[in-house]
Amino acid sequence: MQVVLIEGDGIGPEVTAATCRVVAAAGVKIDWVRTPAGAEAAKTHGDPLPDETLEVIRRYRVALKGPCTTPVGKGFRSINVRLRQGLELFASVRPVTTLPGVMTPYDKVDLVVVRENTEGLYAGLEHEVVPGVVESVRLITRRAAERIVRFAFELARVRGRRVVTFCHKADVMRLSDGLFLECARAVADEFPFILFDEKPIDNVCLELAADPSRFDVLVMENLFGDLISDLCAGLVGGLGVVPGANLGERYAVFEAVHGSAPDIAGKGLANPIALVRSAAMLLEHVGHRAAAERIERAVVKTLQAGVGLTPDLGGSGTTTTITAELARHAAK
Ligand code: NAI
Repeated sequence: MQVVLIEGDGIGPEVTAATCRVVAAAGVKIDWVRTPAGAEAAKTHGDPLPDETLEVIRRYRVALKGPCTTPVGKGFRSINVRLRQGLELFASVRPVTTLPGVMTPYDKVDLVVVRENTEGLYAGLEHEVVPGVVESVRLITRRAAERIVRFAFELARVRGRRVVTFCHKADVMRLSDGLFLECARAVADEFPFILFDEKPIDNVCLELAADPSRFDVLVMENLFGDLISDLCAGLVGGLGVVPGANLGERYAVFEAVHGSAPDIAGKGLANPIALVRSAAMLLEHVGHRAAAERIERAVVKTLQAGVGLTPDLGGSGTTTTITAELARHAAK
C-alpha cells in the first residue's frame, strides 16, 4: 500500500521516523511516498507547499503529515490552512481520551473534537483598510456549516456516541454564529436518536475544566476548534498524546494536534505517541483495523509500563527509547 509521508519541520522528522518504525512493527507493509512541505520546502522548492505535494496527495489520497512551521505575522500563509483548503479537508477529527499511566486531574475523558477546517477566521480574508486598521473576515457559509455538523452526527452514529454538542458564540457574533447555529439545529433534526446540545464556547471551556467526562462529541467552527483541541489535549496528558485526522470527501491527511515544537527539535525529546496514534487512525481509515488496534494497545502498554517515556510524560527517556517500547509492544 502506498501512503504519502510529509516529514514536516522541527520535531517532524523525528516523530515521523518513529511512527514509520511502529507501523512496520505492527506488521503493515507501507510504501511511504515522501513529499516535501514546510519551511524546508520553502527553501528547496520556493514554496512551503509545492504544487507537486498537493498533486502527490491527490494521486494517493491518504497522507501522514508531520507538523509544519508557520512564521508568526509575516512570510508565507500557513501551510496547514492551504493544505486543508486546497484538498477540501473540511473536517478535523481529534479523539481525546484518558490514557492509563498518564497522570492528570481527570479520568474517564472520552470525547471527540470535530472542527470545521476551511472557513471562519482561517479563511485568510484579511486586509489593511488604512495603515493601523486591519480587518479579518469570519466566513461562515450554510454549505460548510451543515456539512460539518452532519459529519459530526454521522461520526456519532457510526461510533455509537450519544450526544453532539454544538459550541458557538451566537449571542455576540449574531450573524455568523447565528447562521451556524441555525444550520446545526436543522441538521440535528435529521438525527432524532442522537441528543443535541448547544452551548456558548466560554461555558464549554468552563465545563471542560470542571469535568470533561461530561462531553461526548463537540462540533464547532475553525478557530474555536483550534483552541479547544489544545485545551482538551492538556486535559489528558498534553500535545504529545493526542492524534488527529483531516478528512474530506476525497482525501485524508492524518497529523497530530501538536506543532513543530522548535524548543525541543533535534534534541531527541519529542514524544511520538500523538503521531503514532494518528497513524493508527490512518490504518483504520484504509481498512487495517487489526493493526490500528495493535498500535493503540501498544501505546497503552508502553504508558502502563512507564519505561523509556519522554520528559513530557514525566519520564527521562528519549524519542528513541519510547519508540523502541512502542515498536516492541506493537510487534507482539
Ligand atoms: P507546539 O505544539 O509546536 O508546541 C507547544 C509546546 O508543546 C512546546 O513546549 C513543545 O515542546 C510541546 N510539544 C509539542 N509537541 C510535543 C511532542 N510531540 N512531544 C513533546 N512535547 C511537545 O506549538 P507552537 O510552539 O505554538 O508552534 C510551533 C510551530 O508549529 C508554529 O510555527 C506553528 O505554526 C506550528 N504548528 C503546526 C501545526 C501543524 O503542522 N499541524 C499545528 C500547530 C502548530
